[in-house]
Amino acid sequence: MADHETTWGDHPRTTVRLRPGERVTLCRCFQSKNFPFCDGSHREVAGRGPVTVVVLQEEPSESRGVI
Ligand code: FES
Repeated sequence: MADHETTWGDHPRTTVRLRPGERVTLCRCFQSKNFPFCDGSHREVAGRGPVTVVVLQEEPSESRGVI
């Protein structure tokens, strides 16, 4: 499962760390009780829905022809 942290500078910033192959659905409406992850609360408010992020598996360098 992805881990995350929020820092509070001039503007709050949340960083989500993902590993290759992970998939998460992130909240863009700021109503989720499980922020930064979507919990479906966007259905109750007008505005933005979630965005899904998928981390693609990177190929080993040998298979990309790197010498
Ligand atoms: S809860 Fe915010 S986008 Fe789904």
